[in-house]
Amino acid sequence: MKLTLLTAAATALIGTVSAFPSFQNADSPQYAEFLKQAAAIKSNGKSSALWKRDGNLETPDNGFGQRRLTALLNPANFKYNAKEQHVDLTSDEHKFIAPGPNDIRGPCPGLNLLANHGYLDRSGVTNLAQGIDAINKVFGVEYDLALALNAYAVVFNGNLLDLSWSIGGPPKSKGLGALTEILLGQPSGINAHNIYEGDASIVRQDYYAPGANRDNVEVHMPYFKDLLKLGKNDQTPGKDIYNAELMLQHKANRWHESVATNPLFFNSAFGGLVVTTAAERFVAEFAANNTADANGYNRIYLDEPNLLAFFSVVRNKDGSLTYTPGHERLLESWVRRPLASTFGLDDIVLTLLNAASIDPSLLSVGGNTGKVNSFAGVDAGDITGGAVHTADLLNDPQALACFLFQAGIEELVPTQVNVLYKSTAQALDFIGKNLKTPFQKLATAGNNPCNKYSTKAVDAYSRFPGSKIETNGKEGLLGSLVNALAGGKRRLSRNF
Ligand code: HEM
Ligand SMILES: *[C@@H]1O[C@H](CO)[C@@H](O)[C@H](O)[C@H]1NC(C)=O
Repeated sequence: MKLTLLTAAATALIGTVSAFPSFQNADSPQYAEFLKQAAAIKSNGKSSALWKRDGNLETPDNGFGQRRLTALLNPANFKYNAKEQHVDLTSDEHKFIAPGPNDIRGPCPGLNLLANHGYLDRSGVTNLAQGIDAINKVFGVEYDLALALNAYAVVFNGNLLDLSWSIGGPPKSKGLGALTEILLGQPSGINAHNIYEGDASIVRQDYYAPGANRDNVEVHMPYFKDLLKLGKNDQTPGKDIYNAELMLQHKANRWHESVATNPLFFNSAFGGLVVTTAAERFVAEFAANNTADANGYNRIYLDEPNLLAFFSVVRNKDGSLTYTPGHERLLESWVRRPLASTFGLDDIVLTLLNAASIDPSLLSVGGNTGKVNSFAGVDAGDITGGAVHTADLLNDPQALACFLFQAGIEELVPTQVNVLYKSTAQALDFIGKNLKTPFQKLATAGNNPCNKYSTKAVDAYSRFPGSKIETNGKEGLLGSLVNALAGGKRRLSRNF
């Protein structure tokens, strides 16, 4: 069958993406900082990017000082500039409007609120270029990270022909047209479990957890209350309670809770390490407000009022909490970080090391084997054919960047493409241009050698029943799919 060509509109959008001005070059200020920190960590296991824990989760100076763990490009190094950091949240175009009955919202508070403020299409169906632009402009997400997040959504949860994707479930839209020639079934949206969405999330339940009723989308208030409890239920406005250290401690607690309660808990290299761990850091960095310190420099902080709005929770007069699905928002006077201190893919690599310094479990890939508390980790050595071991990753950010690229993208992606696509050429081409590029650039920054591993991450996943994906009413184990596909089978027509 002849392949459908990308539409002119889609091609133009891709053109725009590669033309984004500051898409990480080897000499970008962020990479320079990353390589500096990487060298310090390699030589003595420490750097200013990794904090020294003293068991105290609080920001110094009673929560009104500068954070210990900051982005590589720390907002505190830039003068507060009210005009540059202002984000329009009040005009007709960008004021908060609650979603209507036909609008889609999903598991990501950041995307939900961008749609509620009209920075993404209010319908909840966005596209590659709009998604990149919105998270850069409103939150200061660096282009490499913005491209990686969006490209993954397009190719695995969206429509490759017009580059649209849904921030929740499947778009209710029109016919799929030519897409049916290349895609099996219909685009799922980012709700689809184990494709993007994963377990041990901040405040959502595990899809396969007993009693969760396959709800991985709505806020589970007991988890939200656990988070507030970790912040000692401190409601002081302006106080930096929900910093990176506290959020990663929450992640550690959530991880152990999933192991202890969900027989099918599963943590993959991409969904588990990159997405759900990074999401904890996203709260501390992006939901935070920014203000001027005594010297006129930025002070980034996340207090309870801003946290509640971000997660669509309201504190009532009697102190109780009410959650309304899909009403995430930014408070009107909220101020963004300076755009000179964007947060990028390299910040995520360091986030994982910080997470591991709180609890080494957080760097493990693997899952429960069908019973609670049966967690079996896959050593990085099993995934890399012995090329690197988990211990190597702990003191080498460049090796970790390479591992995430190889195990999270290079090895996994062909399998996922085969599971989702009838005809794979266009998807692979798109991935090569848009998804691999940002990961590969970082993995090889500073001339880091980053070679393909000789084994497959997906093989290592087949032991875990929770690695099952359900797509288009069919389901299968991600791990077993490799073998099924090797046998020439393209469709998932039965349970594996
Ligand atoms: C194109 C960009 C983005 C995509 C495709 C995306 C996708 C996702 C997905 C699939 C999840 C579910 C993961 C899970 O299972 O926990 C998620 C969760 C989350 N995302 Fe995003 N996201 C994006 C940008 C952002 C931004 C800019 C922010 C912050 C402003 C953000 C904050 C979060 C948070 C805090 C969660 C965890 C929610 C929870 O567990 O309660 N995301 N995102
Ligand atoms: C955010 O910080 C600015 C600058 O200090 C302040 O004027 C505003 O009230 C704060 N807004 C919120 C929602 O915390």
